[in-house]
Amino acid sequence: MGRLEGKRAMVTGAARGTGESIAGRFVAEGARVLCVDVLDEPGQAVANELGAAASFLHLDVTSEADWQRGIDLCTEELGGLDVLVNNAAILLMKGMADTSVAEFERVVSVNQTGVFLGMRAATEALREAGGGSIVNIASVDGTRGATSLIAYAASKWAVRGMTRVAALELGRHGIRVNAVCPEAGSPHMVAPYLSEGVDMERVMAAQMPVLPPQKKRTIAERLDDIAQLSVFLASDESSSCTGADFVIDAGNTAGRILPEIPGR
Ligand SMILES: NC(=O)c1ccc[n+]([C@@H]2O[C@H](COP(=O)([O-])OP(=O)(O)OC[C@H]3O[C@@H](n4cnc5c(N)ncnc54)[C@H](O)[C@@H]3O)[C@@H](O)[C@H]2O)c1
Repeated sequence: MGRLEGKRAMVTGAARGTGESIAGRFVAEGARVLCVDVLDEPGQAVANELGAAASFLHLDVTSEADWQRGIDLCTEELGGLDVLVNNAAILLMKGMADTSVAEFERVVSVNQTGVFLGMRAATEALREAGGGSIVNIASVDGTRGATSLIAYAASKWAVRGMTRVAALELGRHGIRVNAVCPEAGSPHMVAPYLSEGVDMERVMAAQMPVLPPQKKRTIAERLDDIAQLSVFLASDESSSCTGADFVIDAGNTAGRILPEIPGR
């Protein structure tokens, strides 16, 4: 018996990276999954690879009409919806002084308004299913500040705030809402901002100073870690969890290690 046996799920941004990983884990655990993205070819390829339990739909998370189509398709093809994973997002790495209003608003539109529209569009279907789970993929950048991330950090802090509001409003319908805050993600998202030839595996490994070297994870393993956490939050195993953040960052935001001081 899979941990998501019989569950009907929609995963946004499923054409690659974290979303692809989540969709794959969900199917492996017995769910049927509607993969949605604006990247049609890779999105369709992911669904084909996953087989009969998965299908693909072009859905832009900033479009109310697309959301309605997506929820309608879940009802028609899957018979309803039990789980929504709001994973789609875009990154902008630019200093605050150089960030235009249009750039700022574009990030907020996808990362923040997209999550709001998704949660709102899915509510009725999740209610009809007798309850369900919404998993919002935020980021550690929604828990702290970082240079060059004025728009992205704003949108990810907002996702954590909206997660709490939605959890409080939807709890009475048996709908749980949680946020996942990863440190790592798909290299595709960050690559445009790195110099050519940078070894992403080394960058990722360097992000894990708290854990001993033998515990270092590859990119694929770290994406799968996020997928496994999402399985937990989508499943009935997490029935008591709602309105919470689940940080998945190998201890990076836990605090400071003080070198040269006893107790290390
Ligand atoms: N990459 C990282 O280092 C990192 C770190 C922490 C958190 N995250 C978060 O993880 C999640 C997944 O990102 P990823 O790392 O897999 O990056 P990614 O760029 O590989 O994947 C994002 C996906 O979202 C899709 N998308 C973008 N705009 C969309 C829209 N308007 N409508 C529908 N789909 C859209 C993209 O086409 C892409 O397939 C995001 O929420 C991201 O913010 C990423």
